[in-house]
Amino acid sequence: MTENQPRVFPPDFLWGSATASYQIEGAAREDGRTPSIWDTFSRTPGKVHAGHTGDVACDHYHRWQDDVRLMAELGLGAYRFSVSWSRVQPTGRGPAVQRGLDFYRSLADGLLERGVVPAITLYHWDLPQDLEDAGGWPERETAQRFAEYAHIVGEALGDRVTSWITLNEPFCSAFLGYGSGVHAPGRTESEAVLKASHHLNLAHGLGVQALRSVLPRNAEVGITFNPVVARPKTDSPGDQDAARRIDALQTRIFTGPVLHGGYPDDLRRDTARASDWSFVRDGDEALIHQPLDFLGLNYYTPTVVSAPTEGAKIARNDGHGSSEHSPWVGSEDVEFHLAPGERTDMGWVIDPTGLAELLTRFQREVPNLPLYITENGAAFDDKMDAAGAVHDPDRIAYLHGHLTAVHQAIEQGVDVRGYFLWSLLDNFEWAYGYSKRFGVVHVDFDTLQRTPKASARWYAGVAGSGRLPAGG
Ligand code: FCB
Repeated sequence: MTENQPRVFPPDFLWGSATASYQIEGAAREDGRTPSIWDTFSRTPGKVHAGHTGDVACDHYHRWQDDVRLMAELGLGAYRFSVSWSRVQPTGRGPAVQRGLDFYRSLADGLLERGVVPAITLYHWDLPQDLEDAGGWPERETAQRFAEYAHIVGEALGDRVTSWITLNEPFCSAFLGYGSGVHAPGRTESEAVLKASHHLNLAHGLGVQALRSVLPRNAEVGITFNPVVARPKTDSPGDQDAARRIDALQTRIFTGPVLHGGYPDDLRRDTARASDWSFVRDGDEALIHQPLDFLGLNYYTPTVVSAPTEGAKIARNDGHGSSEHSPWVGSEDVEFHLAPGERTDMGWVIDPTGLAELLTRFQREVPNLPLYITENGAAFDDKMDAAGAVHDPDRIAYLHGHLTAVHQAIEQGVDVRGYFLWSLLDNFEWAYGYSKRFGVVHVDFDTLQRTPKASARWYAGVAGSGRLPAGG
């Protein structure tokens, strides 16, 4: 492959975009929906930039038809969205609310009518507040509740949706939600992080079982991780060990039981002072280790770490916000460094080689599991010009670089089946509120008007032709 030829993707490669319920839906108090931990968190002073909330967000709950039309116009083949748990099962217990399920049924039908494949994520961080009040993810019971919810949604939508993701980035739910506290519910308790991780894993295992019991045989079930691409600052043994520790905490605490049937020994050793892990019961790890049909990977940027140096100020910003509390249970002393190079508006360094590394790693680790990039994209400080156009060459360059990495991986035999760009729309970027724009479609948060950016047109061209143009 020479650099002046387009890169041709396999004909059945899925080109999609992704969003999440709390980030786009709005309609926070409509049709029986009860608050999630993100409704509570965003109302807590000082937690989210400028006091922004998801009350209205992109108002997708009312404008979903326009959004589906937009996807069809852009020729996108797939759409990954998440279901708001407290919209379909308010308070996280008991009977389902039909209006809530109807919303997702209509959305799925609307997508299918226009030839866009729907992919459902059951949990993208918006736990019903009532379940948090009962203890949240550090409580084992929450995993049972999730299985019941998975059953409800599977039963309601299994006749039309074939692609199912149990959890999105359980690392963020556990470590940012209960460790650094930069995400909802904003707790900062070391052992709770480990318990939450285990119960998320358990929720996945029980959720897969619940889904399989109601979905047709052709349904595909998987999970989405955001594995760390941890790079040691130097090749010294200390720096390499720092990378190992961070990999155990962000990646292998989930991939260990989910993909391989057990927690890694080094993880248990590293965290022994925080917990004796007695919350893991006999049989749990086997239960978590369910056969899967695919693995979803989210990638944005690599992470550079080193052994602690004396007197160094430990960076507490893990990319999603700053906190005095470290999310890295048992490895609080590991130092994080800014990698050199160009950055996005999140401050995340742009490095497609990390994506290539990730793909190769999982091809090796789970050779028979098809991979999807379920999120990849970039925030930039986009401005609309006087003519109403948004030119975002930096985003196009980012996408080009990362899609090149995906293509190279495919050429090397990695089984990557699709790519979901984050995100379709500018939206509520968690602790950053509406201050970070990840969309290929610009959203004016006063008028809620949607305007495809130059990157949307560019991506449409790639998706429509299956060809990545040469150059940048
Ligand atoms: C991921 C989240 C997604 C979005 C992107 C930028 O960690 O899954 O919701 O916020 O980061």
